[in-house]
Amino acid sequence: MRVLATRRLPGEAWNELRDVEIGTPDRRRDDVEVLIVANETVHEAVLDLLPSLRLVANFGVGYDRIDIAACRSRGIGVTNTPGVLDAATADLALALMLAARRRLVEGDDLVRGGDWDIHWADGPFLGREVSGATLGIVGLGRIGSAVAKRARGFDMRVIFHRLTRGNDAGYRELDDLLRESDIVSLHTPLSTETTGLLSRERLALLRDGATLVNTARGAVVDEEALIDELVSGRITAGLDVFANEPEAPEALRGLPNVVLTPHIASATVETRTAMTRIVVYNVLAFEHGEPLKTPV
Ligand code: DGY
Repeated sequence: MRVLATRRLPGEAWNELRDVEIGTPDRRRDDVEVLIVANETVHEAVLDLLPSLRLVANFGVGYDRIDIAACRSRGIGVTNTPGVLDAATADLALALMLAARRRLVEGDDLVRGGDWDIHWADGPFLGREVSGATLGIVGLGRIGSAVAKRARGFDMRVIFHRLTRGNDAGYRELDDLLRESDIVSLHTPLSTETTGLLSRERLALLRDGATLVNTARGAVVDEEALIDELVSGRITAGLDVFANEPEAPEALRGLPNVVLTPHIASATVETRTAMTRIVVYNVLAFEHGEPLKTPV
């Protein structure tokens, strides 16, 4: 069974795979049956190059760059890595909330730059509380729920929005959630429904001094509009994801009111190792003719 993988994945489980070639699917290959990607684009043109393909195993829970319908119509299975990255992603969301609202990066820069020359009581580093704040979670799936659980430890009041309404007391229509929250954290997958979900008009609903945290996908937010809001200084943000990765817009880089991280929400040794384990389980299940472990 020939496996093509866009990269070697971390952790011991990787060694259980045989016959893996590292490379990109950029030329016709009649032998490749399994493709391992990290949400790199897999659309019709890629599938045309791999006529024997039967499985796309995605290293990651989000599969927005994989054309699921095209795979299905060709009888190609798709798997992802749900569950194992909820804690790490929720932890990073909390870290970004704390960093943005308590101005951690600004403070660190000041100290490192040797520019700390004022008494703490005169300091300009007044932030905004995380404890007791109202947290609006957009997308209350596994990761959103893990964020809610952590938020309770900070005495936050949690409200949420999700596509399927439900009767829970914390549910809000999206516009109401944006108006009511001190902090908004995004945990929705990227789809046609969620692309640009936080439009310019919606971003304008955020309270003055509110904080937007995005560990989901950059394109869920109108990035240009977000830049305008941040340049105006009206809000703060913690961003782990961007519309055009691995680039972060130049306009954000000099702003003190945004904390920027390079898509590291799942980047812990433990979580990435567990993600590889799931990829390998799926590939081996396919090889042995067993049901896929985590089909999309
Ligand atoms: C995912 O799993 O989709 C993330 O973006 C990578 O952690």
